[in-house]
Amino acid sequence: MSAGVQILPDAQALALAGAGADWLARRIEHKPDLTILVATGQTPMGMYAALAARVQAGTLDCSRVTAVQLDEYVGLEPGDPRSLSGWMERAFVVPLGLRNVVPLDDPATFTARLRDLGGVDVAILGLGPNGHLGFNEPPSGPDAPTREVTLTPESVASNRGYWDGLAVPTHAITAGMDVILAARETLLLVSGAHKRAILGAALDGPETPDVPASFLRRTALTVLADRDARP
Ligand code: GLP
Repeated sequence: MSAGVQILPDAQALALAGAGADWLARRIEHKPDLTILVATGQTPMGMYAALAARVQAGTLDCSRVTAVQLDEYVGLEPGDPRSLSGWMERAFVVPLGLRNVVPLDDPATFTARLRDLGGVDVAILGLGPNGHLGFNEPPSGPDAPTREVTLTPESVASNRGYWDGLAVPTHAITAGMDVILAARETLLLVSGAHKRAILGAALDGPETPDVPASFLRRTALTVLADRDARP
């Protein structure tokens, strides 16, 4: 298995939350104006809550951090409860007291804003059930740009769990593989037995567009996985 993989000793989401919060807090303390690519999805929610608790307690200051949106559904009306930017606001931006956000609205504008910012320092990522990162669905090679994509049936099925009976949109915009792989460091959070096989493929299988997460091994990668997800 590649270097930088930390398997947490117990299967509790709490361990993932604490270890992830420690990892990111150290980087924010070192560089208070850190630029962070921010995944939504279930896996990082405990980590974000743990960071928010530190901000509330006055032990961490995120006011100069910039959050960069990783992915967004296409075709939603403003204020739609399924908006991933809304989820990022509720789970990360507001509770951590951020003032700066780069939304993923239009690929050209997003790419230009990131270039002006000097790129992403840290990418916080979850692992799709099919090996996707953001919504870089397989096949996505390392140069895949920020773009609109059609979601695969696996991604639609896994996203159904987020929206309590509401339909999952069929199209999305994703930050490209080029943006993710150019991050100065990446943190991949993986939880649950249903992710074990795909995590194994990402870490130990061939680098292939069929498993976009396999290209993360080209980055300064830390993986935090719970015991259930251990390949
Ligand atoms: C979703 C999102 C990703 C997320 C991944 C894992 O479809 N597009 O950004 O990281 O799949 O989600 P979860 O953490 O809920 O398993």
